[in-house]
Amino acid sequence: RLRSLEAQDLPASMAEARAQAQSCSRCTLCQHATQTVWGEGDPDAALMVLGEAPGDREDLEGRPFVGPAGQLLRQVMAEVGLDPARLWMTNAVKHFKFTPRGKRRMHQSPNGSEIQHCRWWLDLERRFVAPRLSLALGASAAFGLTGNHAPLAGRRGKIETAEDGGPVLITWHPSFILRLPPAEAQRARAEFAQDLALAQQMLA
Ligand code: URA
Repeated sequence: RLRSLEAQDLPASMAEARAQAQSCSRCTLCQHATQTVWGEGDPDAALMVLGEAPGDREDLEGRPFVGPAGQLLRQVMAEVGLDPARLWMTNAVKHFKFTPRGKRRMHQSPNGSEIQHCRWWLDLERRFVAPRLSLALGASAAFGLTGNHAPLAGRRGKIETAEDGGPVLITWHPSFILRLPPAEAQRARAEFAQDLALAQQMLA
């Protein structure tokens, strides 16, 4: 973690951190991914929205939440009045993890060790953004922020404390909602919208 490292190793700005992350090889995910996908939005945002890791589209475009999960996230944000340009949107892990299947690259969730290694970058982002509230989308994001890997079902909609001290609102990952059968997806989407609205209210 940051505290245990020499001050001179630390990037002095978000731009420097982002530049350093481009050549990260703290874990093996960099070997197959196209590029590091850094966060984006307002570096002074009150709200940090944290996903798991870039998907196929994000890996190719170099931006978070530009694929199908991002579309759902942005749609629900618009419904509750959260402006993506006024947030900081990022991921617990900054490289795409996948297994090739024919010509397709099938998404894989990062494991605990990959999330831990990538915390170096997440901690830096959090230091520079210093959000008042974080919204964890799914179990990997929740684990990356809180260190708690308990199943999400009992945690969703509640506030936990990040390891660096800030409040974390736990919610579903939009990809999870997209994979559910229609009736369950409808319910999970409503819960997701409720959580995003709560985040919005907490910052008002
Ligand atoms: N899923 C995530 O968790 N993050 C992204 O950036 C895209 C999809």
